[in-house]
Amino acid sequence: MALKVARRSRIAPFVAMEVLRAANERQAAGEHITHLEIGEPGAGAPAPVIEAARQALGTARIGYTEALGLGSLRQRIARHYGESYGVAADPARIAVTTGSSGAFLLAFLAAFDVGDRVALAAPGYPAYRNILTALGIEPVLLPSGTQSRFQPSVELLRRVEGRLDGLIVASPSNPAGTMLEESDLRQLAAHCRERGIRLVSDEIYHGITYERRAATMLDIEPEALIVNSFSKYYAMTGWRLGWLVVPGDLLRAVESLAQNLFISPPALSQLAAGVAFDCRAELDGYVARYRSNRDLLLGELPKAGFDDFAPADGAFYLYADVSRLTNDSDAFCRRMLAETGVATTPGRDFDPERGHHFLRFSFAGSSADMAEAARRLIAWRR
Ligand SMILES: Cc1ncc(COP(=O)(O)O)c(C=O)c1O
Repeated sequence: MALKVARRSRIAPFVAMEVLRAANERQAAGEHITHLEIGEPGAGAPAPVIEAARQALGTARIGYTEALGLGSLRQRIARHYGESYGVAADPARIAVTTGSSGAFLLAFLAAFDVGDRVALAAPGYPAYRNILTALGIEPVLLPSGTQSRFQPSVELLRRVEGRLDGLIVASPSNPAGTMLEESDLRQLAAHCRERGIRLVSDEIYHGITYERRAATMLDIEPEALIVNSFSKYYAMTGWRLGWLVVPGDLLRAVESLAQNLFISPPALSQLAAGVAFDCRAELDGYVARYRSNRDLLLGELPKAGFDDFAPADGAFYLYADVSRLTNDSDAFCRRMLAETGVATTPGRDFDPERGHHFLRFSFAGSSADMAEAARRLIAWRR
């Protein structure tokens, strides 16, 4: 008799990771692949972080830490809010987590029950919807396009039938890279406050912005759950470290959940990560490279027929409407990878309904890879 596989585990795969696997298989077979599929900074952690980790390995015991993280790191993160946004943050309300992915799990478990309904923009980062689903929480997709800059809006929220328990916002967002104006964030926060909707703000792409600085929701709605990470601006994906600013009423729940689910976030990463906040020059250099990659692609890709992009205010993605080229961006991506060696992510990952008309190019990699990808795509589409 077949053994049971839990229904809750039947969530969609993260297609970008599956494309990465297919691309890596081709690479292992000797093909030269340009990686525009994965949202991972091409450069590694700043040099002082690596040095701090080396020193910690030699001098510190790499054991468990408190479940909410090392006090010194929590304090440093709190200071970052003062330095970067002019906002006071209480270190006691900061939970260090295993990437922002760990923060989402803690936030959703602490704030929502099975059967609760949480709104989020489609297109959006697929793990929001997939983690919610695995936890028995219903993701309510807000179909957002150019009119709302691929972001949630009060108007879209008003169109939702039935009650809502939560809203996730991300500015800049993945995959569109668009940002909400501070006034839009305020409107969303006011709407949620009036209706008792918990607000979760994913601020993982803060620092990677091209037009204006991002405002933190902590400044606008102190009761919101703020999620952030060392993965993107700080270029520390593999260190698996993020954080959550927790509202007072959820603090005890988050701590108990963290103790039981993770015991503690990775100690070595915690010992090294604090210095990342003092590496602005190096990290802003990475952002300058993302900007020039973005400009290169925006200049070159139209020559290959890709010319309809969401305005990439931040993050490192171009979300392209490819409906003039295909009705099936999955098949299109596979063919592109096979025929040109350029790996991208089909929109279905981000929007199950309309994603088949979209493609995401990630420009987090090297400038040489961007130029090579553009050259290959132009030759392909001739
Ligand atoms: C919008 C967004 N949030 C969260 C994450 C997860 O990042 P991590 O768990 O590495 O902090 C990603 C990764 O791509 C992302 O794009």
